[in-house]
Amino acid sequence: MKTLIAFCTRYGATESTSEEIATVLRDEGFDVRVVNTKKEKLKDISEYDLVLVGAGMQMFRWCKESDKFLNKFQKDFREKKTAIFVSSGAKAILEYDGQTSEMEENWQKYLVEKTEKYSINPVALGMFGGVWDYNKMSFVFKKTMGPFRMKLEEVGIKEVAPGVFDTRNWDEIRNWARDLAEKVR
Ligand SMILES: Cc1cc2nc3c(=O)[nH]c(=O)nc-3n(C[C@H](O)[C@H](O)[C@H](O)COP(=O)(O)O)c2cc1C
Repeated sequence: MKTLIAFCTRYGATESTSEEIATVLRDEGFDVRVVNTKKEKLKDISEYDLVLVGAGMQMFRWCKESDKFLNKFQKDFREKKTAIFVSSGAKAILEYDGQTSEMEENWQKYLVEKTEKYSINPVALGMFGGVWDYNKMSFVFKKTMGPFRMKLEEVGIKEVAPGVFDTRNWDEIRNWARDLAEKVR
């Protein structure tokens, strides 16, 4: 099955998550191409049977090229199998604090509402963790997001490099990709 993973990232998490999903799908026999939509503007996606769209979250918003991508290829999606996933740095904190209603709201807002907006019927939706990289943040964001560092430490998220906190659960991501492979076969 020819598969495209089109992702948009600001801090890099959605890229490495996309690569991991690609590895799992390749192991399952899929022919996968991974494209960074900020760097490469695709003109045509007709050759793909399965298209995954991945977006990083920032300030309650998707990385905007993912919206542009869905908008541009909206019609193509009707004839394809599709899946959408987001990288959410807030997810681990909400889970830790037991904020289930906020998590449900985010699922609705960042995933379900997008499928409605672009009239697509995805086989899978995924919300994964993200990366808080204080080295890549602007001066203002570094200050605003400063208090989160303590919260991340409280949640038990380890600093993987100085100033970098990775909240992803790789098993969750790999299992999601394996389930997706099952569903679309
Ligand atoms: C300024 C800023 C704002 C953020 N806002 C949100 C947010 O509203 N919701 C969320 O879940 N995560 C938020 N995050 C965490 C990001 O989702 C996390 O960095 C994720 O890895 C972004 O995806 P990317 O690495 O592919 O860009 C924010 C991070 C920064 C630096």
